[in-house]
Amino acid sequence: MSSSDSPEEKHLTPSALGTKAHWDSLYTLELTNHSSNPSDIGTVWFSDSDCESRIYQYLTSDSLSLPSTTTFLDVGTGNGHLLFSLLEDGDFEGDGMVGIDYSEGSVELARNIAEQTPNAEGVKFLRLDVIKSSPDLGFFGPRIAEEGGFDVILDKGTFDAISLSDEVVDDGSGRRIYEVYPENVARWLKPEGGIMLITSCNWTEEELVEKMTVEGSGLEMMGRIKYPEFTFGGKKGSTVCTVAFRRKT
Ligand SMILES: C[S@@+](CC[C@H](N)C(=O)[O-])C[C@H]1O[C@@H](n2cnc3c(N)ncnc32)[C@H](O)[C@@H]1O
Repeated sequence: MSSSDSPEEKHLTPSALGTKAHWDSLYTLELTNHSSNPSDIGTVWFSDSDCESRIYQYLTSDSLSLPSTTTFLDVGTGNGHLLFSLLEDGDFEGDGMVGIDYSEGSVELARNIAEQTPNAEGVKFLRLDVIKSSPDLGFFGPRIAEEGGFDVILDKGTFDAISLSDEVVDDGSGRRIYEVYPENVARWLKPEGGIMLITSCNWTEEELVEKMTVEGSGLEMMGRIKYPEFTFGGKKGSTVCTVAFRRKT
């Protein structure tokens, strides 16, 4: 059960993973580790579930037929590994890739790793808090502004982390900060053909769809990535889920 104890309570139980202090101290440690051992790139979330290769397979499937010039935004990029994994087989170009994170340490770590990663010179890493600010497309550079958004927005574990914060939005609505995430991020997606892929271990697939398709986000579900399922207490489930969304036409 991922939600808090109260039956009416729809939020997750807050934890340290929902605080910037947690991520700042993690990336301070990971930067130190990386500088003393460049092969230590820090945590790759959900690697047990083979998540990045499943995302890669989904994005390179014939049904999507995405060109090499596809643009990507990785929200809450951490060490940037998800973007680097998409560069590995040469299907996509780094020039169209942007990773954002609110922790200065993440941005520094990802930039340092980019320097030692083949074909990653063009990948941009920028500091941005996606809750406190939702800048116009120009923030990401002239190409993204001209093209009207990103082709693909990725989130691996970031909506999860934001859902673990007990902060409320500063607009008097009483909403928790994760509830504004869908509308803040979806506006950076190309209105036609853009895909947003979110991977979560805290929400079930049904919950993720419900949270991301709230009014105001303009998103609808378009697909899912399959993970091995287990049965527990008569119910079927998987440890993580990845759901694809597109903007409603
Ligand atoms: C679970 S980690 C996932 C990191 C990376 N996506 C991965 O899969 O390895 C969550 C990331 O979200 C970032 N994050 C949390 N809240 C954020 C916010 N409001 N704006 C931008 N980044 C945020 C954290 O700094 C952290 O890097």
